[in-house]
Amino acid sequence: MRIYDIIMKKRNGFPNTREELDSLIMGFVEGIVPDYQMAAWLMAVYFNHLNAEERFHLTEIMIESGDRIDLSSIKGRKIDKHSTGGVGDKVTLVVGPIVAAAGLVFAKLSGRGLGHTGGTIDKLESIPGFVTSLDIEQFKRQAERIGIALAGQTAQVAVADKKLYALRDLTATVDEISLIASSIMSKKLAVDSDGILLDVKIGTGAFMKDLDGAKTLARAMIDLGRKNGRATKAVISDMNQPLGVSVGNSLEVVEAIDTLKGRGPQDFSSLCRIIAGQMLVAGGMKSEADALRTVDRLILSGEALRKFDEFVYAQGGPEGFSASYAVHFKEAEIVEEVRTSVSGYVQSVDAESIGLICMRLGAGRERKEDVIDPSVGIRILKRIGDRVEKDEVIAVIYANDKRNADNEAKKLVDSFVISEQKTSPPPIVYEVI
Ligand code: URA
Repeated sequence: MRIYDIIMKKRNGFPNTREELDSLIMGFVEGIVPDYQMAAWLMAVYFNHLNAEERFHLTEIMIESGDRIDLSSIKGRKIDKHSTGGVGDKVTLVVGPIVAAAGLVFAKLSGRGLGHTGGTIDKLESIPGFVTSLDIEQFKRQAERIGIALAGQTAQVAVADKKLYALRDLTATVDEISLIASSIMSKKLAVDSDGILLDVKIGTGAFMKDLDGAKTLARAMIDLGRKNGRATKAVISDMNQPLGVSVGNSLEVVEAIDTLKGRGPQDFSSLCRIIAGQMLVAGGMKSEADALRTVDRLILSGEALRKFDEFVYAQGGPEGFSASYAVHFKEAEIVEEVRTSVSGYVQSVDAESIGLICMRLGAGRERKEDVIDPSVGIRILKRIGDRVEKDEVIAVIYANDKRNADNEAKKLVDSFVISEQKTSPPPIVYEVI
């Protein structure tokens, strides 16, 4: 069938066959199908969507377009995790050591941050000496030896997705659920695992703005995971405000350590507990209650914290890092308190705006080549539903440039909406699927 006819079929609301998707996607990867035809098909998908069979085929074609990471030589049940991204999301730094301490293998490839969202690799690289560029053999050896390894994407995984995503980004076709599901799962499924935990965020700081959309996305991804033989679970969690108190790379590492010590912020600690519990369930534990008890025990006994230290040391960081981080982390030169000029209840804390402020302070990247300052960021001291009084400190900026800090302080105040109306905090988790 001609590419023109494949596009027309989708435009008219009919499903494409495996062969049609194959010639379209692989033709695009090989440079035979031009961008304008691919973009037309993407827009047709945006309006007419893909059914479960088409999603399955598209995902498989994208997996086959790149390398597969074979971890079958590692003994033990391998569990992977993916978050659809948010502000202050340092969950991986906490749940990885917990599940590894529980005896599962957590061998994960992670990304860097771009725009308002941070990336796990950037957070880890704020630790002096920490190496994220492990080659695949080092990665496997470490996962086998201590049960946890985390590396940046080095291999060419899901090449078609990379090329398609760049085009979607330019053609207003990123936010279509079947395309997002296939894109995320092609990268997850290219890496060997027994189970996958998906953290699907909803809210102002997330891709998905509402619960229905998030549930549809979660179900589409679970379907792809299970059809590929992976035990897949999804947690739908809130991103209507930043997660936890700290946003910014070394600040977030400290918050992760505090959480592993059992004294992290309440919302963040609860989310980590639920996600780690679900990872244990995806890893084969029969009862959710047993899984949660195991998580609590591993934190209380210090085993999860010791696993974190072992992990940091194995990847080149300082020994006993959780006890000595204050010596190793360079502090920001400017610490500026931000106060509210009104009294009332916090109605909203714009997570996306806070992510962008952090990015401009130097904690993130506007462009891929931007260099990160690990010491800068923000601590958010008031959350949705909290009462605040005029002149009370609502946030603290950590910066290395006074003018930059002053400019961003004004925007930070505007990220909070405060009024006399009482309001309740949003749930931490909406649903586990
Ligand atoms: N993240 C991805 O990897 N792909 C998408 O399409 C959206 C978010």
